[in-house]
Amino acid sequence: MAGAIAANPLGNTPQMGFNTWNSFKANYDHDIIHDVASLMVSLGLKEAGYNYLLLDEGWSDMERTEEGSLQANRTSFPDGIKPLVNRVHGMGLKLGLYGDSGILTCGFRPGSWGYEERDAITLAEWGVDYWKYDNCGGFQAMTHTPQERFMTMQNALLRTGRDILYSVCEWGFQFPWHWGGNIGHSYRMSGDITASFTNETGCPCKTAYCLNTGYAGCSVTSILRKMREISVYQERSHWLDMDMLEVGVGNMTIYMQQTHFAFWAALKSPLIIGADPRELGGVSLEILKNRDIISLNQDPLGLPVHFIGSAGVEGFIQVWAGELEAGNVVMVFNEKSYPQDVSVSLKDLNLGIDHPVRARELWSGESWGKISSVETTLEAYQTLVFRLA
Ligand code: GAL
Repeated sequence: MAGAIAANPLGNTPQMGFNTWNSFKANYDHDIIHDVASLMVSLGLKEAGYNYLLLDEGWSDMERTEEGSLQANRTSFPDGIKPLVNRVHGMGLKLGLYGDSGILTCGFRPGSWGYEERDAITLAEWGVDYWKYDNCGGFQAMTHTPQERFMTMQNALLRTGRDILYSVCEWGFQFPWHWGGNIGHSYRMSGDITASFTNETGCPCKTAYCLNTGYAGCSVTSILRKMREISVYQERSHWLDMDMLEVGVGNMTIYMQQTHFAFWAALKSPLIIGADPRELGGVSLEILKNRDIISLNQDPLGLPVHFIGSAGVEGFIQVWAGELEAGNVVMVFNEKSYPQDVSVSLKDLNLGIDHPVRARELWSGESWGKISSVETTLEAYQTLVFRLA
């Protein structure tokens, strides 16, 4: 594994970027993408580390070319993908596209089943940097195991010789964290996220080990719940992907947005913005650009936080903790819709802490001096994030 990383640093830390799906669905075009690219730079997102601009479902035509190659939608991207890639590269960003391991994508555009080699070569020729690969697409493809379908494309991408980050999107179907490390640079572990803590619109699976993963409508808290069981499988260059961020989407409170972002960061999920950059501003933008929280995600050690059930109160207060290259991180989350007092002793966190340690809370930026416990009141859905020296 270490050799593979040295040879290919792609995915060494979780990828960061913007994806069209949460805000635009399949309704976007060349002009919108140009605006988004400019905004990623002018809003300071690129500088904060968000360097991938990802075109999800919607960029491609309903038909392949006569020769059988993928092609851009001729109305919304009349110049094709290559000039767009060149422009995006010229801005210091990278470009990604979406496809599917079946005959069709979820939006009934051409999938890559049987065309893997050809499509990988097309992506490389266009200069594409990132390939999100989905799991919809037709009965015939579903008769083959996901391992086979996703590995065929992985091998095809590798054979192109181009560094293309491979983002597997099969919603945790058949528990990919048990397939071994060799699955994409990242892979989804749940159905699609929705911008809510409590109101799920689908998502029948409430735990990671459930056969009906559902397709969409998973709340932030449901996805977090599943990570309790599988954070131990988080691995450098094969990151468990908790889905795109809903910070700046819908009506989540500031505390909800902070909590969502902090857990995605500390659990080492890819950080992919889903909000429309044309409407992104104020507190949501500040949350997404918080360097202290981003540094948890990009920490060189690459280890996630883990759920410490014994330190919290089931159904009320969650405590998560983990190691950083320098020090530790502790998160205390009030999962209720009303304020709660909390008391968490640092010696109970499996971090080997047996004396007071210097602590800084990352959302407020305030030093708490040397502490041996966290005693405070949390607002509804608030998470305090402590970096311990
Ligand atoms: C889903 C996928 C979403 C989005 C959508 C596009 O399967 O999980 O993230 O890509 O397809 O149709």
